[in-house]
Amino acid sequence: MKKHLLSVDDLTTDDVHTLFTTAAEMHDVQRRQVKKLPALRGRTVINMFFEDSTRTRSSFEIAGKWLSADTINITGKGSSASKGESLRDTVLTVASMGVDALVVRHGASGACQQVAQWIDAVVINAGDGTHEHPTQALLDAYTLTRRLGTLEGKHVVIVGDLTHSRVFRSNVACLTMLGAEVTVVAPPTLMPSGVDAWSASAGFATTYDLDEVIDKADAVMMLRVQRERMSGGFFPTGREYTVGYGLTRDRLARLGPDVPICHPGPMNRGLEIAADAADAVQSAILEQVSAGVAIRMSVLYHLLAGEGAV
Ligand code: CP
Repeated sequence: MKKHLLSVDDLTTDDVHTLFTTAAEMHDVQRRQVKKLPALRGRTVINMFFEDSTRTRSSFEIAGKWLSADTINITGKGSSASKGESLRDTVLTVASMGVDALVVRHGASGACQQVAQWIDAVVINAGDGTHEHPTQALLDAYTLTRRLGTLEGKHVVIVGDLTHSRVFRSNVACLTMLGAEVTVVAPPTLMPSGVDAWSASAGFATTYDLDEVIDKADAVMMLRVQRERMSGGFFPTGREYTVGYGLTRDRLARLGPDVPICHPGPMNRGLEIAADAADAVQSAILEQVSAGVAIRMSVLYHLLAGEGAV
């Protein structure tokens, strides 16, 4: 495994399977009364989040604590970044305290790659701009593997605001690596530019028509409409978006009862996903959250405890 986890491209298929095997063991720890392993005792992990987060930040913190690492959180608002300190100065300052790993979320695509060039500590990308969110893709693929048995030959339909989605970019790479057939769906205004060349080389399909593919899905992944990243009008009204691209009650009825429904969260209920779909028996959304702790334990473990430490 490489030193840092900045992108799904840093991982081989064997790495992903190894991470899943360890995550399954970590998942068992989640069910124990005493959730503590000594693996990272004496190690220090800093979560540096310059963008808001509920799931990723808390699950990295829980993962570090359950592995006995010392974990602290730094956020943009509560740190000297709010006084104008540069990212480089903030990172060098924190690294000088002797930390072993930085988990970084930042609004700029490529920020984590840049951080990794400044310091010796391990860097884990917890979401950088519209670029990548590799641990989200790992936990999504892990969740789907547990539900479907294997991803080999399974048809995963990813729907939503693809232009602004780092989750989509990481998921396409991870799911296709594991043998899934991926179709991505978005309105023309939210389909990333250059997607045709990329889909041809990466081996996934694109369509503007959700109703054309939803009946053929083995799993459906709905993505959040990221209004905070939108500078203009990408669709006329929320109602029109829902009619064309939402997982509505009608579309839910067309899914097989065993077709998992995923969403990385946070959800816009009533916009990209109906409450009935989010809360359906086949919804995997809370399983994704639970898997997030196990996957992040696995990632921290392999990057900090090293090979042969399982
Ligand atoms: N899925 C995800 O990254 O959620 P948070 O923004 O809450 O971390």
